[in-house]
Amino acid sequence: MSVWAVLAAAGSGERLGTDRPKAFVRLGEQPLLAESLERLDASDWVDAIVVAAPPGWEEPSILLAEELGCSKVSSCVTGGQTRAESVKRALAEVPDDAAVVLVHDAARPYVDDAVIERVLTALNEGWDGAVPALSLSDTVKRVDGDRVVETLTRAELRAVQTPQAFVAHVLRDAYENGDLATATDCASLVEARGGRVKIVPGDYRLVKITDAADLERMAPLT
Ligand code: C5P
Repeated sequence: MSVWAVLAAAGSGERLGTDRPKAFVRLGEQPLLAESLERLDASDWVDAIVVAAPPGWEEPSILLAEELGCSKVSSCVTGGQTRAESVKRALAEVPDDAAVVLVHDAARPYVDDAVIERVLTALNEGWDGAVPALSLSDTVKRVDGDRVVETLTRAELRAVQTPQAFVAHVLRDAYENGDLATATDCASLVEARGGRVKIVPGDYRLVKITDAADLERMAPLT
């Protein structure tokens, strides 16, 4: 079973307020992208990697992979306007005979083998896809402007992370036929096509780095 990883790293990182895209801000000693790149490359579960780089940062992304000795990086594509567009472009570089695609956000640097094993095991059980998720500690409300419309049942809700794993042809179908404009993760596109997606335990270290405070909080973990 060949497993191809797609690393979505093309976000602008506007909310970080830096002069460079999020994948190239420093996390400890290295660019943020380096952490997930090295970890995916070192994983025995992963056979090859396609990186979606920020426009204009393709060359530095390839150089970084070379410097780190990440030999599994097969190609680097120019990311699109949205995460879904970036993943779609990377998916086009995944060969037809790939069995599984593992999609991961570079903004979640601390991916590890334990979570990769959990999502891949679910595919072996026959699921179309699997996503790591955490229960919520906050109560979540649906709103209309500043008016509360509804309070959702917390026990039924999960905060979903990456890496997300999918049977390759299921993910391709979802990206070819789905509404990419509204998708904030891959699983939602698969669900919309009737795919069966399993929830597996996530990890608090997989929280997404969005702003400067997240960077400060996460850097000591490197
Ligand atoms: O911006 P957001 O939080 O949705 O980003 C999640 C992941 O998707 C990040 O790793 C980011 O680099 C990536 N992304 C992308 N292309 C975009 C926007 C986000 O690859 N156009």
